[in-house]
Amino acid sequence: MSNAVKTIGVLTSGGDAPGMNAAIRAVVRTGISNGLNVKGIRRGYAGLLEEDIIDMNNLSVSDIIQTGGTILYTARCLEFKKKEYQQKAAEICRKHGIDGIVVIGGDDGSFNVASRLSEQGINTIGVPGTIDLDIACTEYTIGFDTAINTAMEAIDKLRDTSESHERCSVVEVMGRTAGHIALWTGIASGAEYILTTEKYHGDIQRIISKIQDRRKLGKKNRIIVNAEGVGNSAEMAKIIEVATGVETRATILGHIQRGGNPTCKDRVFASAMGTMAVELLCEGK
Ligand code: ADP
Ligand code: F6P
Repeated sequence: MSNAVKTIGVLTSGGDAPGMNAAIRAVVRTGISNGLNVKGIRRGYAGLLEEDIIDMNNLSVSDIIQTGGTILYTARCLEFKKKEYQQKAAEICRKHGIDGIVVIGGDDGSFNVASRLSEQGINTIGVPGTIDLDIACTEYTIGFDTAINTAMEAIDKLRDTSESHERCSVVEVMGRTAGHIALWTGIASGAEYILTTEKYHGDIQRIISKIQDRRKLGKKNRIIVNAEGVGNSAEMAKIIEVATGVETRATILGHIQRGGNPTCKDRVFASAMGTMAVELLCEGK
C-alpha cells in the first residue's frame, strides 16, 4: 500500500442496515493494521458538517461484528445537496487531516454525496449498505440478507394464523422504490401474490378474481406480499375483503426489518467490502 494516505474517515449514511457495524470494524482495523489513523464521523454527512469526529482504535470496534444498527449513528442531511456545503465538508476534512473517506450507505443518496466529495478532492469510496438491494453496479448490498430473513420468518408466522382463520393476509415489506425484499420474501414464503412497484400497476381486480376462482377450488387462505411503495396495504385489505367476502388483514412489518443481528453472509460481505474500501483509498482510487 502507498503511504500517501495517512488519515481516513468512516461514516454511515441513509437508512441503517444490519452489517454496517461489521463494515465499520473492517475499515478501522484494516486502516490501523496498515499504519493509518482512522476517524469516525458520527451521524453521516450531518455530523461531518458539525465536526462530530472521533478517533477510532481497535478497541472502539470490539464486540460489534454481531450487532445491528450503526455505532456511528446515521442521518439524512438535506443541506448536503448544496455545493457550498460539499465544499465546506471538504474543508472540514482537510482541517482534520482526513485524506479519504469510506461512506457506508444506501442508494443514490449517500453515493451521490460520495462522488461530490471526491470532486472536492477528498477521495471517497462507497460501501453499499442498505436493506433495499437497490444500488446500481453491485449485486449485493449489506443488510439485505438479514432483512429478508427477518421478513420471511414474520410471514411464516402470519401464514399460521391466516390459515387457521381461513383469512387473506396482505403483508407489507419495506422498499419504497425497489421490490427486491418483496420478491425474495414472497418467493421464499410461498406467497400467492407478490406486488412490487416495478410490476404492479394497480390492477386489484385481477387479484380479486383470482382469489374468487381459487376459493371455488377449495383454497382458503392467501398471502399477498406488498412492497411498501405499492400503496396503502390497509386499504387494499378492505377492498379485497368487501369484494371477495374473505376476511382480510393487513400487517405492516416496518422498521423491524432494519434491525437485528446480521446474518453470517452480511457480516462476511461487510468485512470484505470494508477491507477493500480501505485498500482502494490507499491506492489513491
Ligand atoms: P440513502 O443513502 O439510504 O439513499 P438518502 O437518500 O436519504 O439515503 O440520502 C442520504 C443523504 O445523502 C441525504 O440526507 C443527503 O445528505 C445526501 N443526498 C441525497 N441526495 C443527494 C444529492 N442529489 N446531492 C447531494 N447529496 C445528496
Ligand atoms: O432505504 C431503506 C429503507 O428502509 C426503505 O426500505 C424504506 O422505504 C425507508 O428506508 C424508510 O425510511 P425511514 O427510516 O425514514 O422511515
